[in-house]
Amino acid sequence: MRPVALLQTLLLGALVLVAVVSLNYSLPHAGRGPAAAGAGSSSAGAGTPHLAGRKLGAQRESHQHAAAGKERAATEAAADAVLTVHLHCGDQATDCKLRRHRGMCSMNLTHDFDSCLATCGVCPALALALRASMNLTAAQLLVTPARGPPACADANAGVCAALVADTDTGSACAASPPAVLGACKATCKACQAPASVAGELGGASGSSSGEDGCFDAADMCGWWAAREPRICERAAASMQRWWWVAVACRRTCGLCGGDGAGAGGAAAAGAALRVAASYGVQVGEDVDGTPRVAAYEALPADPASCKDREAKCAEWVAAGECVKNAGFMAASCAASCGACPVALNLPRPLAKVRLNNGVLMPTVGYGCAGLGESAGDTVQWALEAGYRHLDSAQAREWYREDLVGRALNRFLEAAPAANASAAGAGAGAKSVRREDVFVTSKLHPRHLGYEVTLRQFNETLKDLRSGYVDLFLLHYPECWGDLCGGVAPAGTFLDSWRALEAVYQAGLARAIGISNFAPHHVTQLLAKAVVRPAVLQVHVDPLDHADALQLLCRSQSITLTAYSTLGTQYGGGKNPVLTSPVLAAIGKELGEAAAGQAGPAGGGEGGSGGEGRGGGDGAAGAGAGAGGRGVAQVALRWALQQGLVVLPRSSNRGRIAQNLQLYDWSLTPDQMRRIEAL
Ligand SMILES: NC(=O)c1ccc[n+]([C@@H]2O[C@H](COP(=O)([O-])OP(=O)(O)OC[C@H]3O[C@@H](n4cnc5c(N)ncnc54)[C@H](OP(=O)(O)O)[C@@H]3O)[C@@H](O)[C@H]2O)c1
Repeated sequence: MRPVALLQTLLLGALVLVAVVSLNYSLPHAGRGPAAAGAGSSSAGAGTPHLAGRKLGAQRESHQHAAAGKERAATEAAADAVLTVHLHCGDQATDCKLRRHRGMCSMNLTHDFDSCLATCGVCPALALALRASMNLTAAQLLVTPARGPPACADANAGVCAALVADTDTGSACAASPPAVLGACKATCKACQAPASVAGELGGASGSSSGEDGCFDAADMCGWWAAREPRICERAAASMQRWWWVAVACRRTCGLCGGDGAGAGGAAAAGAALRVAASYGVQVGEDVDGTPRVAAYEALPADPASCKDREAKCAEWVAAGECVKNAGFMAASCAASCGACPVALNLPRPLAKVRLNNGVLMPTVGYGCAGLGESAGDTVQWALEAGYRHLDSAQAREWYREDLVGRALNRFLEAAPAANASAAGAGAGAKSVRREDVFVTSKLHPRHLGYEVTLRQFNETLKDLRSGYVDLFLLHYPECWGDLCGGVAPAGTFLDSWRALEAVYQAGLARAIGISNFAPHHVTQLLAKAVVRPAVLQVHVDPLDHADALQLLCRSQSITLTAYSTLGTQYGGGKNPVLTSPVLAAIGKELGEAAAGQAGPAGGGEGGSGGEGRGGGDGAAGAGAGAGGRGVAQVALRWALQQGLVVLPRSSNRGRIAQNLQLYDWSLTPDQMRRIEAL
């Protein structure tokens, strides 16, 4: 076919498409359904902008469906073919790589993150969120690294002119499905922030172009805001869920900092971008010291556990209800809308993660609790095996911080060649220095209070024989149970936090954080803290995921460290982690020779619920079988792939080494899902 004839045919087809789709889009919903349920009906509300006001007429149900029939499928397929949403997810700054190397992608530095979306690794997560929200296929979302805003253009001027030829633009566009709007973005003003939305938020109304450096990265932001007038407010109110709106539609939502945006937007933009970064990426280094941004991938739910609940789902999906009535449809037709819950997986965990103040922390540390007198030897073994992160504390009932300090210094003072080669380094490798080892300690809750905390902090420096500590935590927010022997501490965790801030400001602790804090403690602290906690250390194992705390920490750029990941927190001499048949089966499946063959040797001090107690009991088979990974390794790797830091403790030299072999293999998405389901 000659090009002109081809063009004519396409245009004719497209005109038919617009006419048919426009006529038939008022889809019927009898009885229960998205429209009947009233879900997502906000676009028809008073004062709604030009794309709203669509009525779903039940009376025309049967004959329209019959008449539309095959044409609908054909025309909607054709419309889908012209629907493209452009996402300009690129770097705006020219020195993004440098900024990333300096840790600027980390969530506290919002301006740098915002200017370097591509380099900071946010684009995949952003694209995924946009696709899910608009029900787009991969082909329909064009992600380009272009600088500046995407142009707002009609895909076919002739089609769009025909669309509005016989009626006013607003109602013609309002009666059209998203696919047609996507093809006629300029005509239908689908890229423009509706004045009502921009005005309310103090943002810039009008075009999405960014002469002032503030623009929408996606070109259908106006359409979203018109359809869901409160979407920008939701983004500001619930960053965890709507972070992508704030990143993709900064201008429409008035979320640009500085010039070109309302004053109220700047703070929200900072929060939004922090959340986007913390939700989508982790910044740090690989085992060989290469800086890297690790992006989470979304793990779709097991299809068996995510089903449609309504018989009419297919029909509603065909009518575009997944987009129009997203809330109702996500609950009723999750499978058909592709709205099944998604878990996060960090397929390539970092060897060191950058904390929110820029300090690097190794993601596997050696747990020093419950080792008793043997701590001196085992800490030495751990350092020789290559651990560069020790987790200690002041609580003498569980830790021997004095022995930890002695072992560390003995190791550091050893001949450079000796400790370098012991760590597996090759010839010519540098010796290990104090600054190469990340050491954590914790304040006992009996010492809560400003003055007493300052005094006690010095005890840690003495025990560790060090002029500073890398991370100092409040071990507990309160004196729970008999933790403090019935003696009330002098102050609260807020008093102690002020002391930790002083210690941090003085450079005596490179980072400060908390442990065993519940969500309400964390939010209470965040409301008062001048220095944001860098780390929260809590119990997480494959049977207890602490989901709420994980979400909270991601949204607040707090690194979550998991303790007792190998199942020592269960009573009755049981260890359901090390005896888990699911983990054992996964270990076998992995098919690689594991470092050790031995099962665990108990190793605890009896009891449970404390630190360094129990754990090995009944855990026969926890060691790796031939050709597989041990249960302990599977549990630890699972935690790493959740984006957590782990602190395995062992008093067995072989298992100490084995627990560090976590970076050169991985769990598949399916294996992650099976562990999620435990
Ligand atoms: N902040 C807090 O309140 C808090 C609370 C608890 C723990 N923590 C920290 O987290 C660290 C770890 O927690 P945890 O001490 O409860 O213990 P854990 O590391 O979860 O488990 C230790 C148990 O697992 C066994 N084990 C270790 N590696 C193994 C392997 N490869 N195969 C089979 N069994 C293995 C050990 O036996 P063997 O010794 O015989 O190998 C021991 O019985 C602590 O040491 C401490 O630093 C902090």
